[in-house]
Amino acid sequence: MTMDSKLVILFFAVAMAIASSAMASDPSPLQDFCVADHASKVLVNGLVCKNPKYVTEKDFFFSGLDKANNSKSRVGSIVTPVNVVQIPGLNTLGISLVRIDFQPGGLNPPHTHPRATELLTVLEGTLGVGFVTSNSENRFISKVLKKGDVFTFPIGLIHFQINLGKDPVVAIAALSSQNPGVITIADALFGSKPPIDVNVLTKAFSLDKDVVEYLQDEFSD
Ligand SMILES: *[C@@H]1O[C@H](CO)[C@@H](O)[C@H](O)[C@H]1NC(C)=O
Repeated sequence: MTMDSKLVILFFAVAMAIASSAMASDPSPLQDFCVADHASKVLVNGLVCKNPKYVTEKDFFFSGLDKANNSKSRVGSIVTPVNVVQIPGLNTLGISLVRIDFQPGGLNPPHTHPRATELLTVLEGTLGVGFVTSNSENRFISKVLKKGDVFTFPIGLIHFQINLGKDPVVAIAALSSQNPGVITIADALFGSKPPIDVNVLTKAFSLDKDVVEYLQDEFSD
């Protein structure tokens, strides 16, 4: 192999390494911390750092995740977030947490996190979980979890959780972003504001127009 072709291979290897780090979730911090200044009007990717001199222990703290949130919603589950909104010190650190409470039969409906992989631990109860791989395989990977079980939902993939037991379920999930984002599939497609053209959803889901209109009505609030 010539020196030139070795250089070309090296160039592509480096270019691919850079491209793959750009596709990973939150970028790495460039200092010990960058506590979010939620009052700042400056818009950046992430949040502006507040002056480190004024940072205190409160910026790294949240309390109350031991308490059940009210899960009596239509779907019978509620997510209590602990991300950069609740803990400003998480800014640039690429991590956050949620507590999820489920009524018996409660569902955390199919959704995706555009910026995070999720690592879920069941603290109480029996939880059915699953995710679907991308096109065109669309393989459904699922499992029934018991207390103490841990399950991973890879970044970007559509997933859900459902309480299969007769008692409430409590789960804690870590997410690999300070601001994972959530796209609940049904809400995004049938509850968008303004609504998506009925013809688009009729064709996409192979549904009758009146079913689409019914769903759009259900998901608009
Ligand atoms: C309950 O859940 C809501 C919605 O996710 C959240 O905004 C709120 O902070 C939670 N409340 C408590 C007391 O945890």
